[in-house]
Amino acid sequence: METFWTIGLFMVLHGPPDEVKALDNGLALTPPMGWLTWERFRCNTDCENDPNNCISERLIKVMADTLVSDGYRSVGYEYVIIDDCWLASERDQDGRLLPDPKRFPSGIKHLADYVHSKGLKFGIYEDFGKKTCGGYPGSEFYMQTDAKTFADWGVDYVKFDGCYSNLNDFPAGYEAMGFFLNNTGRQMVYSCEWPFYKIVTGLSVDLAAVRKTCNLWRNYYDVQDSWSSVTDIINFWGNNSLNFTKYAGPGGWNDPDMVILGNFGLSHEEERVQIAMWALMASPLIMSNDLRHMRSSSKALLQNRNIISINQDILGVQGFLLRKLNGIQIWNRRLSNNRMALAFLNENSDGMPRWLDISLADLKLSPTMTYNFTEAFEMKTTFVITKNKQFKVSVNPHGVQLYVVKQL
Ligand code: GLA
Repeated sequence: METFWTIGLFMVLHGPPDEVKALDNGLALTPPMGWLTWERFRCNTDCENDPNNCISERLIKVMADTLVSDGYRSVGYEYVIIDDCWLASERDQDGRLLPDPKRFPSGIKHLADYVHSKGLKFGIYEDFGKKTCGGYPGSEFYMQTDAKTFADWGVDYVKFDGCYSNLNDFPAGYEAMGFFLNNTGRQMVYSCEWPFYKIVTGLSVDLAAVRKTCNLWRNYYDVQDSWSSVTDIINFWGNNSLNFTKYAGPGGWNDPDMVILGNFGLSHEEERVQIAMWALMASPLIMSNDLRHMRSSSKALLQNRNIISINQDILGVQGFLLRKLNGIQIWNRRLSNNRMALAFLNENSDGMPRWLDISLADLKLSPTMTYNFTEAFEMKTTFVITKNKQFKVSVNPHGVQLYVVKQL
């Protein structure tokens, strides 16, 4: 029992250990929030047949407009990021990147200016290797030029992928791009896929070096539009096999990939799970969805300020899986002001809600103390638990109960 308590306390008092220094570019002091093309719009380049959904300046502009008009910007979603498939097939004569001229006729600088004029920030995607995963020109041999081009265009966030490259070159390559980005003098969030390709091929990765180089980093497979994908990611994080929760903190974050609320694959309960668990895991909240066509329930979850404030808690401690009881996962995230978030997650599909009869000891909390539990989505229902008192938690199938807990 003591072990969990001690680890939690250590993280509250110290944050990530000293040797795990973050990239010091002053950015991402809380997990970045924004919107990205990939999960929902993929590599759709067919503007002739699908003009409203192809990867184009038109799509980016309308998403920037909607982030503002529909209230996303005001709760913190600020980055608008184009993923793969924005590039022309060749560089220009001077070796600089060019956007596809038909889909981005006004150029990227113009698009970044437009996004900035909306009070938002602008992000772009490139790849460390010969080609991007979609087959467009990669940054290999051009990193310095590309970093300068991004700075000239007014880019605020660079997602740097790792297709078509040698995995042994990752540390030096990602560090070099980080160096070139910083050297431009423009502040750009640096999002890396370095650990992902290493981990899924069974290779070791130096996460302390990753944290020193990148503001966020992917460790695991791409999210897909399904419950099984979301739970697979949560379980990977819960297993914490590389002890990676300790590398998260102000300036650098583990990235479990995009938030997919509002798409086709998740029920309302499942959408609650994704947003609650991404808050608990101090994960970047980068949505990929069609903001023009959102169910009101999805939009309300994405804009729930109570959940966002857990995600953005200034301590920046990533939550961890405390234990499993009666098939329910119990997760704990330390928060500022002597609080914590507790999540009860029911992954099971057996149809009826599962009950837990819980005591403070079951939650690895001190039985000599008194705690105030407040349901975290609404922050309206509160109860007090003390000493050996038992209480019940009911969790729907594919559902979550989330509490903010304060020691009195
Ligand atoms: C990889 C990345 C995705 C996306 C695609 C683009 O699969 O993991 O997030 O960027 O490439 O091709």
